[in-house]
Amino acid sequence: MSREDVGLPARPLDDRTAIVTGGGRGVGAGIAALLARAGARVALVGRSEDSLRTVAGRLPKDTEVIVADLSQPDAPAAVMDTAIRRLGRVNVLVNNAGGENFTASHELTAQEADELWALNGRAPLLLGGKAAAHMASIGGGSIVNISSVIGSERSIANQSLYAATKGGVDAITRSLAAEWGHKGVRVNAVRPAVTRSDMSAAIFADPAIERSLSAQYALGRLGEPEDIAQAVLFFATAASSYVTGQTLSVDGGWISTLVH
Ligand SMILES: NC(=O)c1ccc[n+]([C@@H]2O[C@H](COP(=O)([O-])OP(=O)(O)OC[C@H]3O[C@@H](n4cnc5c(N)ncnc54)[C@H](OP(=O)(O)O)[C@@H]3O)[C@@H](O)[C@H]2O)c1
Repeated sequence: MSREDVGLPARPLDDRTAIVTGGGRGVGAGIAALLARAGARVALVGRSEDSLRTVAGRLPKDTEVIVADLSQPDAPAAVMDTAIRRLGRVNVLVNNAGGENFTASHELTAQEADELWALNGRAPLLLGGKAAAHMASIGGGSIVNISSVIGSERSIANQSLYAATKGGVDAITRSLAAEWGHKGVRVNAVRPAVTRSDMSAAIFADPAIERSLSAQYALGRLGEPEDIAQAVLFFATAASSYVTGQTLSVDGGWISTLVH
């Protein structure tokens, strides 16, 4: 059965534009590909121009490439200005770019903490605020933050800093939803568990580790970027027109089930 058969448009983002941060690889590249297939004109943001251009070359529509280090204080505002100028308007923002840190808490430095917060927390907050103000001025829009099951839902040793930043992303999601809902701007988040990308490459490189982790997931496998992208698409389109302030775990059932 096609999407049209069940009353859903085949290209729900036709005439829409979207920013995808970290769109040059991994989860972000998967998100960009699906949003473009759904009709959106996309702006990809990241530090590596080569990887952004490679992904852009595979997308069906003209794609904008914005090279920026989002951990820098002025980068979020500059990225929004550039995206609005190049795309004309921004209907969807996906805050996907992120990093990790596995340093034990007693060895963490203030510099490490500041650097990861700048990328994982401050950038989506500042980008989200600027994007929301712009979206309000054009009648509304959708912001989707990529959080993690490690944060508000589950804890793993030596991930206290990463968890703090992702718990922060969940709080930012609810706060911006409260601040901008009356102006037609919806803000939601997706929480992946282990998903195939450079960030999780060590897990997928070892079949024994992949197998043993997969066995803990109700669906019996780890995530693919497309799995995360489908949830982002839901939040980006009118399919979720009455949903805001929510965080959806897209984790193969890892958090909610105990598999025997
Ligand atoms: N993969 C997982 O298992 C998993 C699980 C839970 C949550 N997540 C979340 O999913 C999101 C995507 O992660 P991923 O797995 O795709 O990771 P990844 O493969 O390491 O990709 C990270 C992306 O972020 C961009 N990025 C990193 N630092 C940046 C900076 N300073 N400025 C701008 N862009 C920057 C990278 O592009 P450049 O290097 O070109 O800048 C890259 O596109 C992250 O928020 C991550 O926390 C992933």
